[in-house]
Amino acid sequence: MSSIDKVLARIDANLDQSLQRLFDLLKIKSISTDPAFKAPCREAADWLAKELTGIGIEASVRDTAGHPMVVGHRKSGKPGPHVLFYGHYDVQPVDPLELWNRDPFDPVIETREDGSKIIIARGSADDKGQLMTFVEAARAYIEETGDLPVDVTILFEGEEESGSPSLHPFLEANKDELSCDLALVCDTGMWDAKTPAISVMLRGMVGDEIIVKAASRDLHSGMYGGSAQNPNHIVASIIAGLHDENGKITLPGFYDGVIEMPDDVKAMWDTLGFSVEDFLGDVGLKYPRGENDRTPLEHIWTRPTVEVNGMWGGYQGAGSKTVIPAEAHAKFTFRLVGDQDPDKIQDAFRAYVRSKIPADCSVEFIAKEGSPALRLDFAMPVLEKGKKALQDEWETEAALIGMGGSIPIVGDFKRMLGMDSLLIGFGLEDDQIHSPNEKYNLTSYHKGIRSWARVLKELAED
Ligand code: BES
Ligand code: MN
Ligand code: MN
Repeated sequence: MSSIDKVLARIDANLDQSLQRLFDLLKIKSISTDPAFKAPCREAADWLAKELTGIGIEASVRDTAGHPMVVGHRKSGKPGPHVLFYGHYDVQPVDPLELWNRDPFDPVIETREDGSKIIIARGSADDKGQLMTFVEAARAYIEETGDLPVDVTILFEGEEESGSPSLHPFLEANKDELSCDLALVCDTGMWDAKTPAISVMLRGMVGDEIIVKAASRDLHSGMYGGSAQNPNHIVASIIAGLHDENGKITLPGFYDGVIEMPDDVKAMWDTLGFSVEDFLGDVGLKYPRGENDRTPLEHIWTRPTVEVNGMWGGYQGAGSKTVIPAEAHAKFTFRLVGDQDPDKIQDAFRAYVRSKIPADCSVEFIAKEGSPALRLDFAMPVLEKGKKALQDEWETEAALIGMGGSIPIVGDFKRMLGMDSLLIGFGLEDDQIHSPNEKYNLTSYHKGIRSWARVLKELAED
C-alpha cells in the first residue's frame, strides 16, 4: 500500500475516536461575542493546544486583548511549500434556544430518513467540525508515517464570529512566525453534497449600528402624536430609502469598485445548474429579491448588499402601549465585492443617515470594523493541486465557486502576510450555520479528513 493509502485507511479505522474528540470540543461553549462565555473560549483554546501537542504539533495558547489564539508548528525544513492552516474555535450564540431540538452543546449523531448521518451541535459545521478535519488528517499522517509531508503552521482564532478585533495586532506582532507560502482555510462549503468546491471569492463586510434619538423621554402618543418626531419612523424611512425600485442600493458611489465577472467564469458557473427554486424552497421562500437585472447566483456571490440585521424601538411587550419612544435602533451590514472600499461605504452610509435626521433629533453610530472582499487568481497553480486532491476523494470534479459569506482574515493574510489562501470546506447549504439545530454531515467530517490528507500529499509533490 502507498503511504497515502495507509493514512486513509488509518483515518477510516479511527473515525469513531476522531468523532469522540470532536464531541469533546463541541461541548465547550465558546461563544465569542458574549462576555459571559470568556472562560469557555479559553477552555476551547487550551483544549486545542493540548490536542495539537498530543499529536506532535508544538502548540501554545497566545493571549490577546480578546480571546486567545492558538498557534502550532511542525517544521523540519521540508522542500515543499510551508502552509498555514486557519480555523476558528469560536461559535455563534445559540438563541433562540427554544427552537433547538436539544442542548446545542450536547452533540449527538442522528440518522436521517435517507440513512445519512449528521452531527448536531452549535459549531459542528462552523467551524469546529471543519477545523478538526485538518487536525485529524494531520494526526493520521503523523501516526502513520511519522511526519507531515509539508511543514505546517496552525492558527486557530477565537473571535471570528465577533469581527476578529484582535486579529490585526496579532498578525502584525507575529508576522515572521505566521508568514508561510500558502494558507489553507477550512471555513467554507461544498457546491452540493456530492460536489466538492474551492471558494475563489469571498464577500467583504462593513457594518454600522445607529441609535436615533428624538424627544428627551418616551411620550404619550395621543398627547404628542402628530407633533413630536417618532424615531421608529425615522429609522424606517432610512431603511426604506436604501434601495430603489430595481433593488439597487442608493448610496452615492456605492457601486464604485464593483467588478463584472469575466465571461469564462460566468460560463463555468452556468454549468453548475444552480436552482433558485431549490435554494429558496429549502428555506420556505420562492421569489428572489435583489437587483432585478441580476441572476440569483450574482445576488449571493458577486453583487454587494445591505441587510438590516436587527431593529428595535418602542414597546415590545405583551398587549399595547400608546407611546412614542425616545429612541430607535438598527444594525446594518453591507457585503462588499470587488474593490469596494469599506471606509468609503461607511462614510457614504453615515452621510445618508445624517441627511435623514430632522433638525431637532440626533443620531449616534457604533462602528463595526470592515474588511474588503477577496478574489483569488483563478489561474493560481495551487488550485490545480487542490482540485486533484478533491477529485481523488470525491470522484467528482471540484467546482470553483463564490461565497456570499465573509472570512475577514483571508484578506489580511494576503495584505499583511503576502499569502494566498486555498479555501476548501465541506459545509453544506442545509447545515443551518448560525441557526438553531446546526449540523455537519458525518460524510463531510469523514471525507473532509480524507480530503485534507490528500491535499497535504499533493502539496508535497512538485
Ligand atoms: N464560515 C463563515 C463564513 C461563511 C459562511 C463562509 C457561509 C461560507 C459560507 C464565518 O464563520 C462567518 O460566519 N463569517 C461572518 C463574518 C462576520 C461575523 C465578521 C459572516 O459572514 O457573517
Ligand atoms: Mn466560520
Ligand atoms: Mn460563522
